[in-house]
Amino acid sequence: MSSIGIIGGTGLEQLQGLDLIREHSADTAFGAPSRPVQEGRLGGQTLFFLHRHGSPRAIPPHRINYRANISALHALGVRRLVAINAVGGISPDMQPGRLVIPDQLVDYTWGREHTFDDGGSGSLLHIDFTEPYDRPLRLALVEAAEAAGIAHEPFGIHGVTQGPRLETAAEVRRLAGDGCDVVGMTGMPEAALARELGMAYACVCMVVNPAAGLGDLPLTLDMMRRILEREAGVVRTLLETLLVALAAPAAAE
Ligand code: HPA
Repeated sequence: MSSIGIIGGTGLEQLQGLDLIREHSADTAFGAPSRPVQEGRLGGQTLFFLHRHGSPRAIPPHRINYRANISALHALGVRRLVAINAVGGISPDMQPGRLVIPDQLVDYTWGREHTFDDGGSGSLLHIDFTEPYDRPLRLALVEAAEAAGIAHEPFGIHGVTQGPRLETAAEVRRLAGDGCDVVGMTGMPEAALARELGMAYACVCMVVNPAAGLGDLPLTLDMMRRILEREAGVVRTLLETLLVALAAPAAAE
C-alpha cells in the first residue's frame, strides 16, 4: 500500500494530534528538505508530514527546496500527497476562512528549480499536466469535506505567484482576468514535481485574506495567522476524515 504524505504550509507547522513515530532527516540528491520528515499516526493511518517552510526558521516561498521536499517524501514511499496552502481570495465566494480544493492552477512563478529533468537521462520528460491535481485524491478530499460537514469549494483555479511580496491590486485584477479564484505562492513547482515522480498530489487551500485591492484592511501576516489559527481545527478534521476514508479497504491500493 502506498504511503500518504501531508505538506503543511503557513499556520500548519505541526500536525496536531499526530502520534509521532520517528523523524527522517536523510538528505536527498537535491539537498536537505525543509525540515526532517515526521512519520506518525493520525486517523488510524501512518503518514509522513513535512512543513514546507521549515521551522523554527521560516524559508520563504522562492527559497524552498521543492525538489528536496518531494524527493524526500518519495524516498519514504509516499505516493499520495496532500498539500495545504494559505491563499488570498480573489473570486467573491473566496472569503477568509473558506476552504478550497482547487482543480486547476496557473503558474506565475519563475526562477525556481521546477523539474527533476536535468537533461541527463537521454530522453525527454513532458508530463501530462492537463489536470494538475490527481482526480481520485481530489475527489476523496471533497468527499471527506462533505462527510465532515465542512463548507468548501470543490473547484477552483489556484494562481501561484513568485512572492515573497504580496500582489499589487492590478496584478490581482489580471489574475482574476485569467480566471484565478485564489492566489498563493507555494503551489508550484510542488505539484509538477510530484507528477514527475508519479505521485498523486492534491491541494487544499485555506483563504486567509482578500487578495490585494479586494478588502478594506491592509494585508498583514498577523491577519493571515489569525484566520489560520481559527481554521486549524477544520483542516485537521478534514485530514482526519480523509485518512480514515483512505484507510478503508476499498480506498487502499
Ligand atoms: N497572495 C499570495 N499568497 C498568499 C496570499 C495572497 O494574498 N495570502 C496568503 N498567501
